[in-house]
Amino acid sequence: MGLPEERVRSGSGSRGQEEAGAGGRARSWSPPPEVSRSAHVPSLQRYRELHRRSVEEPREFWGDIAKEFYWKTPCPGPFLRYNFDVTKGKIFIEWMKGATTNICYNVLDRNVHEKKLGDKVAFYWEGNEPGETTQITYHQLLVQVCQFSNVLRKQGIQKGDRVAIYMPMIPELVVAMLACARIGALHSIVFAGFSSESLCERILDSSCSLLITTDAFYRGEKLVNLKELADEALQKCQEKGFPVRCCIVVKHLGRAELGMGDSTSQSPPIKRSCPDVQGKLKEKSKRVQPQISWNQGIDLWWHELMQEAGDECEPEWCDAEDPLFILYTSGSTGKPKGVVHTVGGYMLYVATTFKYVFDFHAEDVFWCTADIGWITGHSYVTYGPLANGATSVLFEGIPTYPDVNRLWSIVDKYKVTKFYTAPTAIRLLMKFGDEPVTKHSRASLQVLGTVGEPINPEAWLWYHRVVGAQRCPIVDTFWQTETGGHMLTPLPGATPMKPGSATFPFFGVAPAILNESGEELEGEAEGYLVFKQPWPGIMRTVYGNHERFETTYFKKFPGYYVTGDGCQRDQDGYYWITGRIDDMLNVSVREKIGPIATPDYIQNAPGLPKTRSGKIMRRVLRKIAQNDHDLGDMSTVADPSVISHLFSHRCLTIQ
Ligand code: WT7
Repeated sequence: MGLPEERVRSGSGSRGQEEAGAGGRARSWSPPPEVSRSAHVPSLQRYRELHRRSVEEPREFWGDIAKEFYWKTPCPGPFLRYNFDVTKGKIFIEWMKGATTNICYNVLDRNVHEKKLGDKVAFYWEGNEPGETTQITYHQLLVQVCQFSNVLRKQGIQKGDRVAIYMPMIPELVVAMLACARIGALHSIVFAGFSSESLCERILDSSCSLLITTDAFYRGEKLVNLKELADEALQKCQEKGFPVRCCIVVKHLGRAELGMGDSTSQSPPIKRSCPDVQGKLKEKSKRVQPQISWNQGIDLWWHELMQEAGDECEPEWCDAEDPLFILYTSGSTGKPKGVVHTVGGYMLYVATTFKYVFDFHAEDVFWCTADIGWITGHSYVTYGPLANGATSVLFEGIPTYPDVNRLWSIVDKYKVTKFYTAPTAIRLLMKFGDEPVTKHSRASLQVLGTVGEPINPEAWLWYHRVVGAQRCPIVDTFWQTETGGHMLTPLPGATPMKPGSATFPFFGVAPAILNESGEELEGEAEGYLVFKQPWPGIMRTVYGNHERFETTYFKKFPGYYVTGDGCQRDQDGYYWITGRIDDMLNVSVREKIGPIATPDYIQNAPGLPKTRSGKIMRRVLRKIAQNDHDLGDMSTVADPSVISHLFSHRCLTIQ
């Protein structure tokens, strides 16, 4: 990684400072002074002080933050207990064990009743179709969540039960997850782009008692008949001896049939008419409304249940260490792991990372484009922003529909101040040139963010120069489903940025770089990225398989949490993620292991089958090597076209 030869800088208009670094590959960009001036952390020195305290005195540091939340009962024992060393016994992490709280109460009731934010917009919802919009205030969200909590309780859902959620990006998805949290049930959200097999596998793995889904939705031009997929999944579960007795269905595509007053809510009806999209809407009326099949005795309409539900609901008071949710992460090998996060630690961590990493202020309009089906959406669409009383955009569509103006027109429409997306989206939009971006004002933007994979400096510089008009710091946030929230990241008002580097650790994070023998490397170094001590948002176990948790993250280097990512630290102490370690091939293996390790055939490949977060799907590579076209569930693959290329170029002599 390194900076491209040519760097584009604007002259007098640039307020981003460019500095000569201590040499080497990257010069850094200082935080713009006007961002620093009002920032929670206004300088690198202040960041260093806070960071030092957070890792040296984690109990005091997080204890102070915990005081800003509501605890039904205080922490009776030690604030933090843990073991990171497999040679010393079971791996465990406990933050505030014995304290009781409820995360839904903290992110809704308190905002409405104590902080008087009831009339503040929690979400501007922007549908797939431009012009289809609604908004929901904190008060309205609280009412709907209470109603749906009552619905779930009436269906027999209790604390500790698992509820599967398979929905597009609509407000009911947020309502459903918060209602689970309110009654102490674990939500297990399955991304609506996943197949019925994936859904079935996830329902079975954590034996979910109930499924919440949606009739159908459009993703760009593409109709997704979600109910049909949900039915297939439940059919498969039944065949495997696990009948799910209840499926609650949101009428979304067929919402118009419900009449303009969305009976489930006190929020304004979804607006569908907007002068400049009349043409589009006419086109849309030609769109198919799929027939929804109905399983008597199992399926229930969301809107019917909500009509009868009371709008007050006492939250379930949970232990800080009770599980909050399960989110499956598709490993490169084996079946997906059910990553378990807990109530207290996750709440502190997502609230704090959201506040500092996006330098949140009350008047912000925040937009994270990630789907709630991923951890990014859990932490930075739902829990983090709501914990801070923020206003966010909830977007159902895609960046290229109806055209590549979409993201920037939404930024202007809602005056988005903080914008968080993935390098793939940036690279995609870059291909269409500057004009679709620059023809929009974007004057509201203050901070930009990225997540998901290393961002190449070229894309970083385009994002900075074109999208952010050189005024907006970019926070390149490195983290994982397993970490719950940001781990390595700049702070917008404090950290000089280097394009392609996730810079420094967040508060409470103590990174190290290890060599193959497990020795900590100092200074400039490259090796395995690990973390030396727990932060509140760390996962606690793999659902139903604690041994897999220990083996995957703690066995290779006892005493450390192992990320599985390779990393370099430069002379200025900046961290640069080099990618998943399991992607690297040991070269010259023949000498080390012997002639048996000589590859039979080396095939050049323009790309490998990867999951969306960049994990190589080894299972698929093995099938290709065997010329076996029965690849199984491929719904997690990022780019299916590489597979046909690999098949057509494989060596014909391999048996
Ligand atoms: C893997 C985690 C965290 C939410 C999205 C993905 C890669 C993530 C960065 C970044 C370089 C990154 C790592 C990590 N990754 N963010 N800013 N720079 N790499 O979550 O599916 O759990 O994947 O994504 O390889 O281990 P995930």
